[in-house]
Amino acid sequence: MTDRLLLNPLVTFDTPLGFTPEPTNEPEFLRQWFRQSMEQCRSLTLQLFESIDREMLCCYAHPDFSPIGWHLGHIGYTEALWVLEHLAQQSLPCPELRRLYAQDGLPKRDRVHLPDLPNILAYLQTIRDRVFDYLDQTPITDQARIWHFLLQHESQHCETIAIILALQGQGFRSRPPLTAASSLSPQQVTIPASPFAMGLDGPQAIDNESPRHWVDLPDYSIDAYPVTQGQYRVFIESGGYQRSEFWHPDGWQWLQTQAQTAPIAQPRYWVDDPAYDGHPVCGVSWYEADAYARLTGQRLPTEAEWEKAASWDGGEGDSRSFPWGEAWPTGDRANHSHHFANTTPVNQFQASQSAGGCVDLLGNVWEWTSSWFDGYGGFEPFPYRGYSQAYFDQAHRVLKGGSWATRPWAMRNSFRNWYHPWVREIFAGFRCVRDR
Ligand code: AVJ
Ligand code: FE
Repeated sequence: MTDRLLLNPLVTFDTPLGFTPEPTNEPEFLRQWFRQSMEQCRSLTLQLFESIDREMLCCYAHPDFSPIGWHLGHIGYTEALWVLEHLAQQSLPCPELRRLYAQDGLPKRDRVHLPDLPNILAYLQTIRDRVFDYLDQTPITDQARIWHFLLQHESQHCETIAIILALQGQGFRSRPPLTAASSLSPQQVTIPASPFAMGLDGPQAIDNESPRHWVDLPDYSIDAYPVTQGQYRVFIESGGYQRSEFWHPDGWQWLQTQAQTAPIAQPRYWVDDPAYDGHPVCGVSWYEADAYARLTGQRLPTEAEWEKAASWDGGEGDSRSFPWGEAWPTGDRANHSHHFANTTPVNQFQASQSAGGCVDLLGNVWEWTSSWFDGYGGFEPFPYRGYSQAYFDQAHRVLKGGSWATRPWAMRNSFRNWYHPWVREIFAGFRCVRDR
C-alpha cells in the first residue's frame, strides 16, 4: 500500500477548473495550499451566518447541540489554541473567552450567553490575521498534520451548525424536484473476497483513521444505493415502528421512552410526498436503521464492508481514496458542501460509483454501520486524547461517507464519524447488506 497525499485542487465546486498543482511537500506550495483552503473553508462558514439574528445565534435548540454562535466562536478558539498558543507560543487573543469556547469549559446549556455576531466575527478575524502571519514564516512541512486537522475541525463544526439550523427549519433549500428512476437497478452488488487497505496514514489523516491496515473480508452483497424514502415507506406502513421483534432491545426501550414525550413514527427529515421517493432516508437513528435492516431480512454493513465497497479498485491493486478514484470531490461527483443544500436522488451521481458498483457513497447522507467506534491496532491520539479516544467506549457507532453539508476536507472513504445510536438529528441514512 502506498502513502498518499490527498490535496484538493484549490477550487470550489462553482469553479470546476482553476489551478491544479501537483501534490507536493514543498513548503511554499503547502503554505499557499493551506492559505487558500482555509480562506475557502472560512468563506463557506461565513455564508452560514449571513441572515442569522441574535435569537438564532444563541438558541439552544436541542440538548445535544450547543448554540450555533458557540460553534462559531469555538472554531476560532481552536485555531488560536493550536496555532497561536501551541505552535507559535504566543498568548491567546481574548484569553477571557477560553472558558466559554473551550470544549471542556462550560456545560452546553450555559453556552447561550454569547457576544453578538459582529463581535464573534471580529474575534475570528483577529485570530486569522495572526495565524496567517505565522503561516508565512513557519516550518510548515513538519506541522502539516495540525493544519490539516484545523481545516477538518472547522468543516465538521459547520456541519453541526447546519444540523442545528435544520432543527429550526432554516439553512436548507427545498429539495430539488428531481425524481430518480422509479426502480433502481441493480439493487445490490457483490464485493468479492480479497484483502484491502483500510484507514489512512499521512498528514491529513485524523488520528482515528490510522494506522492503515490490511483487512481480509469474504464475499458479501451490499446495496448499490442508500435506502430511499420509497423503500422506507414500506417499513413504516408494515408497522415497523410498532413491532418490537425487529428492534434491538435498547432501541425498543428508547422508542418507548420517546413515545411518552415526542413519539417517533418517521425519520426526522422525512418528506411525506412520493415525489421524493428517490431521495435517501435522512434523519434516522442507528436503532431505526437497524430495525429496517432486520425487517427486510438484512443487516447493516460493518465499517470494513462499507469502506471496502468504496475503496476496492476492482483488482488486486491499492485501495482508492474516493469511490471514483483519486480526484478530489467536486459538485459533479457528489452532493456535498451545501452545493444543493439538501438531499438529492440517490442515483443523481451514478457516474461516480465505486469499482464494485456502489453509488452515492460520499455526500448526500452519512451512512450508519454496525461497528462500534474504536481505535485501530497501534492507535495514537492526536492532537489530544479527548478528540477520538474518549469516544472508544462501546457506546458510539461509526458513520461513513459524509452528507450534503460535509465539506471536501472531511469527506473520503477512510473518514469516520461517530454518534450515540439514538441520535437522529444528524443527516444520516444507511444501506444494507445481505448475507450470502
Ligand atoms: C466527529 C462530528 C462527532 O463535532 O462532536 C469537533 C468532531 N470533535 N470538535 C463533534 C469534533 C471536536 C465531533 N464529531
Ligand atoms: Fe471542536
